[in-house]
Amino acid sequence: MSSAERYNALKGIQDIYPPEIYIWQEVEKTARDVFSTYGFQELRAPIIEPTDIFVRSIGETTDIVEKEMYTFSDKAGRSITLRPEGTAPLVRCYVQNHLYNLPSPQKFFYSGPMFRYERPQKGRFRQFYQIGVEALGSSDPKLDAEIISMLKLFFERLGLKELNYDVNSIGCEKCRPDYKISLLNFFSDKIDRLCPDCKRRYEYNPLRILDCKVDECITLKAGAPRVIDFLCGGCRAHFDVVLSLLNLLNVPYEINTNMVRGLDYYTRTTFEVTTKQLGAQNAVAAGGRYDRLVEEFGGPPTPAIGFAIGMERVVELLQSSNKQDIPNPKVFIATIGAPAEKESLIIANKLRENGVWVEIGYAGNSLKSQLRKADRLSSDYVLIIGDDEISSGKVKWKHLSDGTQGEIPFSEVYDFLT
Ligand code: HAM
Repeated sequence: MSSAERYNALKGIQDIYPPEIYIWQEVEKTARDVFSTYGFQELRAPIIEPTDIFVRSIGETTDIVEKEMYTFSDKAGRSITLRPEGTAPLVRCYVQNHLYNLPSPQKFFYSGPMFRYERPQKGRFRQFYQIGVEALGSSDPKLDAEIISMLKLFFERLGLKELNYDVNSIGCEKCRPDYKISLLNFFSDKIDRLCPDCKRRYEYNPLRILDCKVDECITLKAGAPRVIDFLCGGCRAHFDVVLSLLNLLNVPYEINTNMVRGLDYYTRTTFEVTTKQLGAQNAVAAGGRYDRLVEEFGGPPTPAIGFAIGMERVVELLQSSNKQDIPNPKVFIATIGAPAEKESLIIANKLRENGVWVEIGYAGNSLKSQLRKADRLSSDYVLIIGDDEISSGKVKWKHLSDGTQGEIPFSEVYDFLT
């Protein structure tokens, strides 16, 4: 291993830097703008939590908890986990800080890195970023429809239109037991042919078989009973209203009865936004209701719903749609000679105090190389200052995109450029 390789980032973990970072910033800004019109406020929860927070909420027999968590002992021997998702920490924070005493529903958004020890591939990373929202304190189906339609508005604002909105209802603790029994009956004569993971899922978490991506399991699940046929009266009515409101709000959804999601906390509505442009890792956002989770964490009964957007995947979609606004400096000051270099610092300082992005040449580079740099940076203007300009008290300026140029007294530079 060369010393350069020894200092590489960990596998499945990537750096994000310009110009790609500008797409990230645009996505984050769009999310903030859109979510704030629905009353979502930012909440920042820690990146590390006691391991139990995730085991209790995501579920002991899920892939995330069984195989994917970055868990370690701290110096006092406590089991700590790098958050694999943002819902459990937010609910922990909500309960611990008694946020349920505030008017319901409380609506929050968050963004930041999540960690899952998955097999890295295109669109799947071990450190990845999510922007998520959670609304706690209402079981009203209007909230489900609003949240899904907010997600649609977010994607539309980014100019991403060809997305599929899959929805499902996976019922509640009342309807799920009958459904589980019927699933177990359906798979009972197929157990031998299920993949090793699904054999275990059959014992511990049969709903998860429906989510398996192994070819043989996909074939075997054809004709499996559908959870929506087992919904109790309350869940059925809730789902029907959600669907009718999605129609009202023009969300082009499809019911996907196989979508059971990879986390155990869900109840009733679940949804996923997918694209055909990213290959296997096709989910760009996903979420659902989790009406029992606040209670599981020791809070009062508090129905809730939320989703998380996969930043890397959204950024990749935007990159492939060539939609990239890279900011550029307004002014590049090219100088020849020491007096001009000093003058350039004064001008740059004053312009920057007025909020103008200014670049200057360094290390006595030739005028030609400074102008090349201004061009590469796509600066709007170049100012050229040499000994002649210092003695005449005038600066040469050039507007790079249309080629116009002229001279102005030093004292007028600020008015001219701000
Ligand atoms: P999730 O489906 O596990 O849900 O993740 C949400 C999104 O995060 C996925 O649709 C995907 O875009 C992105 N994602 C997940 N894993 C990776 C990865 N390894 N690499 C890149 N992107 C990834 C949740 O995390 C729930 N907490 C969502 C939620 C919020 N439900 C209710 N509230």
